Amino acid sequence: MNRNITSIVDGVPVTGAPGGRITSTNPAQTSEVVAEVSLGDPATFVAAARAAREAQSAWADVPAPVRGRAIAHIGRVVEANAESLARLVTREIGKPYAEALGEVREIADTCDFFLGEGRRLYGQTVPSAMPDKQLFTFRNPVGVVGVITAGNFPVAVPSWYLVPALLCGNAVVWKPADYSPACGAALAELFVRGGGLPDGVLNLVMADGETTFAGLKQALGEGYIDKVGFTGSSAVGARIGELTGRHLQSACLELGGKNPMVVTPSAELDLAVEAALFSGFGTAGQRCTSLGTVIVHESIHDDFVARFDKATRQATVGDPFSDVVFGPMLDEKFAGRFGDYLEWIQPHHSVLGSTATGRITAANPREGFLGDPDAGVFCHPTIVDGVREDDAIFRNETFGPLVGVTTYRDLDEAIRLANAPGYGLSSAIYTTEPAEVFAFRRGISAGMVSVNNSTSGAEAHLPFGGNGKSGNGSRQSGVWVLDQFTRWQSMNWDYSGRLQKAQMDVTELTPDESFRLAD
Ligand code: UN1
Repeated sequence: MNRNITSIVDGVPVTGAPGGRITSTNPAQTSEVVAEVSLGDPATFVAAARAAREAQSAWADVPAPVRGRAIAHIGRVVEANAESLARLVTREIGKPYAEALGEVREIADTCDFFLGEGRRLYGQTVPSAMPDKQLFTFRNPVGVVGVITAGNFPVAVPSWYLVPALLCGNAVVWKPADYSPACGAALAELFVRGGGLPDGVLNLVMADGETTFAGLKQALGEGYIDKVGFTGSSAVGARIGELTGRHLQSACLELGGKNPMVVTPSAELDLAVEAALFSGFGTAGQRCTSLGTVIVHESIHDDFVARFDKATRQATVGDPFSDVVFGPMLDEKFAGRFGDYLEWIQPHHSVLGSTATGRITAANPREGFLGDPDAGVFCHPTIVDGVREDDAIFRNETFGPLVGVTTYRDLDEAIRLANAPGYGLSSAIYTTEPAEVFAFRRGISAGMVSVNNSTSGAEAHLPFGGNGKSGNGSRQSGVWVLDQFTRWQSMNWDYSGRLQKAQMDVTELTPDESFRLAD
């Protein structure tokens, strides 16, 4: 089915296409149009933010347990539509169907976690230093949240923002990636219909990046946006952080990664290879949590690389509706950028993992490819062995199917190399030595650490987020994300019938500090 998609402001589809029209195509079969999209302009974003502002206080007045019920219903409706939503994810961005089903599961998991939070959303009672006075804390919604997301997780990662933001009583303007508009429209509809959300509580804006930035700037200036959530590149995240900072806001930023995997001499090598294959090449290396560099002990380097090369050569690439390790790139533009990263390969590197590099085509084939490579946007998996600390390939995220390999001598050096690129999202260590696990955990700058597991595939109820170039310290998921979408309010209530002055009208007991026990 080919869909017509447009922005939805205050429950009403926006007519016209002030930002132009685009088509979204299937990256595994680029001749297949998935959706025709009418784009908005900056004014569309501002109108959506204004509608959210008007709807927000009534939404905040809906009791939190009732909002929790809305989240429960959304979860059930998502589950009831799991297969068609997963098929749409596979068609629109080429994620293998099994992974797409997992991505949909992640939305339901997030709803399952937060439906109960509607009955908690706890504040505290706190003792006062004075009699006949009580202290309390309350979580208040922040107000209107602007959410801008990437298309590599076109439905799960948006739900990490939408579910807690709505549960906490905020209204939302959501701008999905312009290469996953059909997934965005489908998810928004599941939320609005499944949750029975009033008009204006969740608004959808279809726009390109620069238009969105201009609209966001204007909406912030008009005072319609109180919080921004952004998942995408470190470069755009820095611009959003700067813009929101000017309005004294701190955005929730989930940015890029150069995620290391340290493989120690005690590691179970086959397990490490399996994880390197999945975390490096799953989703065609297009997760923020994808493996960047394997840092392997020099004593096992040759053995590891031989096994990793063999596993990668044997991995099935191709039709994402079949059983493949990975399918196409998300979109043509990612294949283009990946081509640029391949130019960072230098003569001191050895390139392994496939029959060639770059685009997989009939003229540049990959052995065992499943389907017609010329019909879509497919790239060879690429292992680059012998990377050095000052190589561009070592220092920068290379969003795509490329994994670097380097060696270390002792664990301190491994940790130093793991931190050197300056990102800090995810990390992994393969070892059977507990002391190495804890030394690594302490030394690594990443927000997330896997022990004998992949750098990718975080569970949806642990804090998710990074440091350095990966983010500004914000955390999504679980109870931790509540601090992104609520503000603490403290209240004190004096019923003594007089003005008790804090720090001044406080009674003191009289201690005898000179007292010592007799020997
Ligand atoms: C992302 O790529 O932006 O941990 C998020 C993972 C997924 C989420 C990735 N659950 O790999």
